[in-house]
Amino acid sequence: MSAATGLPTAPLLEVRGLSRTYPGVRALDAVDFSVRRGEVHALVGENGAGKSTLSKILAGTEAPAAGVMLLEGAPYAPADRRHAERCGVRIVLQELNLIPTLTVAENLFLDDLPRRWGWIDYRRLNAAAAQAMAAMGLQAVPPDVPVGDLGVGQQQMVEIAAGLAHPCRVLILDEPTASLTEAECALLFAHLARLRAAGVGIVYISHRLAEVQRVADRITVLRDGKVVASTAAADASLDQIIGWMVGRALRDTYPPRTRQPGATLLEVRGLQRGNAVRGVSFDVRRGEILGFAGLMGSGRTEIVRALFGADLAEAGVIRRPGQAAPLRLRTPRDAVRHGLALLTENRKEQGLLLTLTVRVNTTLARLRAVTRGGWWLRQTLETALCERLVQQLSIRCRSVAQPVWELSGGNQQKVLLARWLHRDSEILILDEPTRGVDVGARHEIYRHLDRLAAEGRAILLVSSDLEELLGLCDRIAVVSAGRIAALFERGHWNRDAIMAAALSGQNDRPGGN
Ligand SMILES: Nc1ncnc2c1ncn2[C@@H]1O[C@H](COP(=O)(O)OP(=O)(O)OP(=O)(O)O)[C@@H](O)[C@H]1O
Ligand SMILES: [Mg+2]
Repeated sequence: MSAATGLPTAPLLEVRGLSRTYPGVRALDAVDFSVRRGEVHALVGENGAGKSTLSKILAGTEAPAAGVMLLEGAPYAPADRRHAERCGVRIVLQELNLIPTLTVAENLFLDDLPRRWGWIDYRRLNAAAAQAMAAMGLQAVPPDVPVGDLGVGQQQMVEIAAGLAHPCRVLILDEPTASLTEAECALLFAHLARLRAAGVGIVYISHRLAEVQRVADRITVLRDGKVVASTAAADASLDQIIGWMVGRALRDTYPPRTRQPGATLLEVRGLQRGNAVRGVSFDVRRGEILGFAGLMGSGRTEIVRALFGADLAEAGVIRRPGQAAPLRLRTPRDAVRHGLALLTENRKEQGLLLTLTVRVNTTLARLRAVTRGGWWLRQTLETALCERLVQQLSIRCRSVAQPVWELSGGNQQKVLLARWLHRDSEILILDEPTRGVDVGARHEIYRHLDRLAAEGRAILLVSSDLEELLGLCDRIAVVSAGRIAALFERGHWNRDAIMAAALSGQNDRPGGN
């Protein structure tokens, strides 16, 4: 059925028997899939199930090994992404693919920069960009700032805006909301509703299953490269979808609460950095998971980066109770020496060494621990340690010697997380640790974090997924315009109060991001 007309319609884009292998894995195995006019067809599945591979083939960036593709009934075999776009098929890729040194406007219209007498017409370019950004509710972001200056969530919005700024027949969104909070998701969904009503066919990939149920007309589940179920969204319960994805039932997403936070481990007072962090004070206790909620660009990431010394704070005192002198955390190295660890939100730029192996990437932070003894012993220890991590977090890779760039997005994230989970840091700062991670692996990660806290560590958790904060945290600090607008204790919070606090600083912002 078409949502727009109520009439049954033939598929807009249809594929049959699509296969694709990479060395050692069958990424897609005889997949049938279609999207109709005016429908949102969601594609779900575990990390490494083949979702991105399928969407890249539809969008012309990868070629299938076998299978046929039809666009409005005619054979469709895009040679590359540009060709697919000329046929009206566009993709917003899973990974951030913007060029950090170019401005927002240049990134948006990279393919067809408006020209005048051979020069780029910046006036027209910036005007068109401002319009595209406004459509995504990003009026506050000037079109002429370099994209590298924006946070990951805002970069993701720019990437989406770039996809939406051009007309198309089929739009493929590969985890568009992975770093977005509810407010930005709402803007995106409003936009999708308009496209859907205009007859665009939308392929939608996400690990946020509640969101999938909300936006999708149909849902197709991939497991190990095969379609295991395809159904009208209204006919499938959440448990059913999870069952299809992971092949078993999952009980209780969040671990039962047995931990009790203890003594204060770290005191932060008056942390300040430009407009982004404006006098932030809080304590965190042993055995506690302290959450940071807030809208995109509210300053959550900036607070934890300033705390860690990744960005230099202009003012602020950080203290361990019982120690007379405050800590001097001017660089990440200082922070690590004082028992802090930071998992950054931007895995591509600040975290992973993509060309190196899973083994090197997971054990990087523990080099000291594995470098005692001879070379042979080191290799053996490193491999053993890494294999245990791979198993615990169900990281899908051929072997620990596989380069990280070959892994699926969610599996890359798990590699980065593995690196930090197994340091002996007392204070673990995690910025969007489960971004793009599937429901089964989240389950494991939540248990792991709970265990670490129960051992007496403190965890600072920044997340755009409010569900996750509500499920895991002992307290939630709501950040708005660079300040902690409210601090809620478990049992004394509700979504509305958190959202209200998150919005409270909206008009209180002197032009920061
Ligand atoms: N260039 C490549 N070289 C080798 N293997 C690859 C390559 N690209 C993808 N793969 C493998 O193909 C499989 C499917 O990957 P894909 O990226 O499609 O998964 P996905 O469903 O999008 O997962 P995620 O939810 O983590 O994004 C994975 O096992 C992945 O490691
Ligand atoms: Mg993917």
